[in-house]
Amino acid sequence: MAVSRNEVTQVKDYAPVLERVTTAIRDAADGRRATAAAVGVLKREVPDYTWVGIYLLDGNELVLGPFVGKPSPHTRIPLGRGICGAAAAEKATIIVDDVNADPRYLACSIETKSEIVVPIMLDDEVLGEIDIDSDRLATFTAEDQALLEAVAARLAPRMKDVR
Ligand code: SME
Repeated sequence: MAVSRNEVTQVKDYAPVLERVTTAIRDAADGRRATAAAVGVLKREVPDYTWVGIYLLDGNELVLGPFVGKPSPHTRIPLGRGICGAAAAEKATIIVDDVNADPRYLACSIETKSEIVVPIMLDDEVLGEIDIDSDRLATFTAEDQALLEAVAARLAPRMKDVR
């Protein structure tokens, strides 16, 4: 019987990655360095993560903070615009298997095929979000969501001084 892509991706084990990100966030001298460290570890440890960045909420706009990957034209995104703005407005993770089939998508690179956006929240307040693009379709599964929501939970208490 053929093994579907989904069955293959379900065996991802991100425990070592989460441990490395957790250590990097804990050891960072301040919130800004904690966000940069988290971005750097995620980009380095997960080959399918082509572009990894953090947006910080400033009023009604998401402002691009640390990122690794090609420069993005979307350095400021109003709440509600794009997949990034939708995730912040809905206060919920959004996974898009095929960005070209999603009318909300704001293009960053023509190679991008799938995307995940995870809000960074303290209590009920959105502080920012983790945004990751992949050059492969349907890269992001429940395992990626769990990893990145755990990273967001560790970043949130360190981000008060970043804005
Ligand atoms: N694709 C995002 C915009 C940010 S770039 O991917 C870095 C969106 O649709 O909101």
